[in-house]
Amino acid sequence: MNSNLQFMVQPGGCLTGHMRVPGDKSISHRSIMLGALAEGVTEVAGFLEGEDSLNTLRCFRRMGVKIEDPETLGAGRVRIHGVGLHGLKKPDSTLWLGNSGTSMRLMSGIIAGQDFDAVMEGDESLSGRPMRRVTEPLALMGAQIDTQDGGRPPLRVHGGSALKGINYVMPMASAQVKSCVLLAGLYAMGETCVTEPAPTRDHTERMLQGFGYDVRRVAGEGGVSTVCLTGGGVLKATNIDVPADISSAAFFLVAASIAPGSDLVLQHVGVNPTRTGVIEILRLMGANIEILNERTVGGEPVADLRVRSAKLKGIAISEALVPLAIDEFPVLFIAAACAQGETVLTGAEELRVKESDRIQVMADGLHALGVDAQPTPDGMIIRGGTMHGGSVTTHGDHRIGMSFAVAALRATGEIRIEDCENVNTSFPGFVELAQRAGLRIRAEQVAA
Ligand code: S3P
Repeated sequence: MNSNLQFMVQPGGCLTGHMRVPGDKSISHRSIMLGALAEGVTEVAGFLEGEDSLNTLRCFRRMGVKIEDPETLGAGRVRIHGVGLHGLKKPDSTLWLGNSGTSMRLMSGIIAGQDFDAVMEGDESLSGRPMRRVTEPLALMGAQIDTQDGGRPPLRVHGGSALKGINYVMPMASAQVKSCVLLAGLYAMGETCVTEPAPTRDHTERMLQGFGYDVRRVAGEGGVSTVCLTGGGVLKATNIDVPADISSAAFFLVAASIAPGSDLVLQHVGVNPTRTGVIEILRLMGANIEILNERTVGGEPVADLRVRSAKLKGIAISEALVPLAIDEFPVLFIAAACAQGETVLTGAEELRVKESDRIQVMADGLHALGVDAQPTPDGMIIRGGTMHGGSVTTHGDHRIGMSFAVAALRATGEIRIEDCENVNTSFPGFVELAQRAGLRIRAEQVAA
């Protein structure tokens, strides 16, 4: 019998206290990948023990890397015995990536540089996601990758191709594509450069530098920037302290903003400027967020965030902020539904190819709660007002589930959220942490 994890969230409540959300997903994936390809032993603290980053960990084990995990070392601790850039082994069967687009796209770049073939596949959501955005630049570098119809997974990456450096101008602002090309560039002859149309998260560049690899970054005009590296170098093992994930903190930034009487401190949150669009957008809407104790940990900026409830107002979101808040729009739509006036998002067509079509799925859920939300091809127009209770489905998308849980703080009746199993991909322990902070949430397994 199939089961379905549902969240039931009672209306009302406010958020208080101090809390630390789990480790950053993007940095956790990269810590395994670069740690595996480095020479020496890399120690990681604060690793995200969510299904997505654990799938990356399992895949590198399957390619012959010894990795000690939190089960033996304790919470958040991982020890990776690096095998060097040329030490990976052919996996004995298909690599399973579950729900994780980051794993598939970044690993395509790494596996393209190996001398063995490997097949990567994932769940229903990942199997529907576009992969040409990585297979095309990799083909320009000389890689051979087979996809299914429409450039979808599973992907078969053929090893043994000699890669050459390219100068790639990305058609979309995507950190996954940029990272994929740079990782393949480690194996390429000559220089590989990637130009992005707008700044995207730069964890790969920062971490490569942390592993002693020379990365050159050139800022261009109007946000356009280029990053280059030369193949054939060496990664030297290092220690990594993964900050709390601002994309997970975002649920609580919105929750405490919309729930009257809230005063919450989120500790040790990664505030890399390529990730802080959510803070900027919320502040423009009138949120009261203080950035405290700013510091740098292992090459990444970190801070504590104090958020108190505030009256939010609708805004037109600048398109320049879209890549800097790309994973936070589901919960920002909830903020917009609680704000006075109209919020308009444009230039965010990438939301349609995330773990779900986040424009349509959020619009459907908001409609079920009586919110005036009009989806557009590249965004949404939301008029704030009252929200009633009701039933919504996540379509298997973790961030949709957590966003509607936050909505209950301001709904007039219970919100029932179906298909919440995947919350575990990025935020293990969400229900317990949310309860502790003040959400009236419970999880229930029901027969599907
Ligand atoms: C990620 C990049 C973003 C983001 C994803 C993680 C990364 O994807 O949405 O959750 O770790 O590089 P895109 O590159 O598709 O924008």
